[in-house]
Amino acid sequence: MKKLNIALLGFGTVGKGIFKTIETHQKHLMQVLGKPVDITKIVVKNIDKHSDLKRKRQLTTNFQEVLSHPDINVVFEAIVGVEPAFSYAKAALQSGKHVITANKEMFAHHGKELKTIAKENNVKIGFEATTGGGIPIIQTIEQLLQVNQINKVTAILNGTSNYILSEMREKKLTFTSVLAEAQALGYAEADPTNDIEAIDAFYKLMILSDHIYGKQPHWHFVKRQGIQQITKEQISELQKQHRRIKSIGTLELVNGQIEARVEPMIIDERHPLFAIEGVDNAITIEGSIVGELTLLGPGAGAFPTASAMIEDLSTILTSQQTQLTKQVEKVLD
Ligand code: HSE
Repeated sequence: MKKLNIALLGFGTVGKGIFKTIETHQKHLMQVLGKPVDITKIVVKNIDKHSDLKRKRQLTTNFQEVLSHPDINVVFEAIVGVEPAFSYAKAALQSGKHVITANKEMFAHHGKELKTIAKENNVKIGFEATTGGGIPIIQTIEQLLQVNQINKVTAILNGTSNYILSEMREKKLTFTSVLAEAQALGYAEADPTNDIEAIDAFYKLMILSDHIYGKQPHWHFVKRQGIQQITKEQISELQKQHRRIKSIGTLELVNGQIEARVEPMIIDERHPLFAIEGVDNAITIEGSIVGELTLLGPGAGAFPTASAMIEDLSTILTSQQTQLTKQVEKVLD
């Protein structure tokens, strides 16, 4: 039986999550895609770091092996940072391979360009996992909000900072001790600066802006303030007043212009994001027809991210199948 050959770029928290998901969901994937999925290549920086892997011949440090492999149709990109992720994704699309990425930094910088390259090469780029972890926010916007005008988005987009603020309040812990916990749980980035300084949430907000409005505001004019200055004393004072502090990203249309910011906000229980705790993310959308809609779910971690990526795989391949069927029907008509 023919297999679906895929490549994995990066084998950290996210890469390992996809690897395990494909292993444990082979039967489901077979039912959905009609063929088994084989992880043919895994591109890593250092092979020695992964000596426990059973099929060692999957490992390579050479991306060209993926590019020149005629049977690899899909590339899962789970690298951190803009490069080499962008160059790899671009080259894969140009050589006719679908790309599914979880890389928010890379996609905030180059998403628009990659979408165009994918279109030109008749392949797809899946980026659900870049924003909101396991929450299907990209597909929701695409499928459910096509006619609605989205006037405003208010969102918790970084699991680590939400986890830190929740734990500091609930367990009366200091910022530093909770940060170490978030790192151990695989929520925080290897370098957590992006999490706590709201850079990660900023990238996700820019991806949403591109997706909703087809463009981003000028980065220079986006206010970005992290959570590193917030103390447990401040949090417990707010708690007494039934208020909480959350790192919230806002994207809105003001007189036709996109305005965006990520900053700590003090909110009370009437706010839709008040009850979002721990590593969860939530996105509240104000649509012109639907009104206020909030999606919430796990915002970080290996499996929520793997879930978003594997659903992208299914969407891409099943839509390709539908397209092929339509073309055949047209020819036979
Ligand atoms: N470090 C990120 C977060 C991972 O905490 O939200 C998911 O993008």
